[in-house]
Amino acid sequence: MSTEGPLVLGIESSCDETGVAFVRGTTLLADAVASSVQEHARFGGVVPEVASRAHLEAMIPTIERACAEAGSRLADVDAVAVTSGPGLAGALMVGVAAAKAVAWALGKPLYGVNHLCAHVCADVLDHGPLPEPTVALLVSGGHTNLLLVRDIADDVQSLGATVDDAAGEAFDKVARLLGLPYPGGPSIDQAAAQGDPRAITFPRGLTARKDLERHRFDFSFSGLKTAVVRWVQERERAGEPIPIADVAASFNEAVADVLTGKAIDACLEYGIHDLQIGGGVTANSRLRALAEQRCADAGISLRVPRVRLCTDNGAMVAALGAQVVSRGHAPSSFALPADSSMPVEMVQAL
Ligand code: KG4
Ligand code: ZN
Repeated sequence: MSTEGPLVLGIESSCDETGVAFVRGTTLLADAVASSVQEHARFGGVVPEVASRAHLEAMIPTIERACAEAGSRLADVDAVAVTSGPGLAGALMVGVAAAKAVAWALGKPLYGVNHLCAHVCADVLDHGPLPEPTVALLVSGGHTNLLLVRDIADDVQSLGATVDDAAGEAFDKVARLLGLPYPGGPSIDQAAAQGDPRAITFPRGLTARKDLERHRFDFSFSGLKTAVVRWVQERERAGEPIPIADVAASFNEAVADVLTGKAIDACLEYGIHDLQIGGGVTANSRLRALAEQRCADAGISLRVPRVRLCTDNGAMVAALGAQVVSRGHAPSSFALPADSSMPVEMVQAL
């Protein structure tokens, strides 16, 4: 077991996963996650009040599980890191309150960190310190961002973001339309494996020449979603069966094509040879395969964490906390807010 670097407790509660982890430096010692995803399934999306209540019920048992897994006591930690935003306000508040309580009771410093930067940082647990500068593609249920990371604890710049739906949101909505279970990403991923990605040509948002002038590194998935809806409705009107696997594969291909295409263009534009990808949608098998193939073709070295570190967890929060602590940053204040719209450039809340 590593003895290098600060021992950090990480707490995550921005959406529907209660995550608690112990990280020392860049070594993951324990990663406990309790998910309320099944409680939201019948609503087809996360219900904020249900998520907050689930965090409240899961927080203490999940902290206890992480302690047992790490063989550590809370009193052993050097610092407590917590997601202070962005995310669902009520859900974030539970994690922030828990982190404050632990840090206050133990007399340890408290670090409020950005959930999106934490997604990018998760991979240090699999592949060591980030090559910097790196371009990072972050694709989750609520966000889709292209970032220039010069220093993961200090200097994260937004190159582009979605102008409407996040990629994960598009997966969830299209899955619902196709009658596939929630959460939509994994369902579409599975259905797509049996389908032909070239069966239907769906639009690639913000890739036309006129759009590239203003939105070179931005994304749009709402037109794609509407195109899938129209295609399915036309087939239904004609009384024809819906080839679910082909629709899923063609939709998945359109998303993976735009995400990887723009990420590689950003690397080339900024002369950067490293691409880091992270966030729940990075669990998608086609996205992973296409990113690998296109990066190899462009001479870019790609880093993708294992699937468990792509979706929400406390490990990524502890990992970013450890980076911030190692840089000697001052802790956040105990007045630390839950900031539902924390900007991606703000790595640490003050
Ligand atoms: O990062 P994450 O766990 O939570 C947020 O911060 O939003 O991302 C959740 C999103 C959901 O929209 C889910 O459908 C999507 O990630 N997702 C996937 C896959 N696994 C999860 N999308 C595509 N393919 C997957 N295999
Ligand atoms: Zn997330």
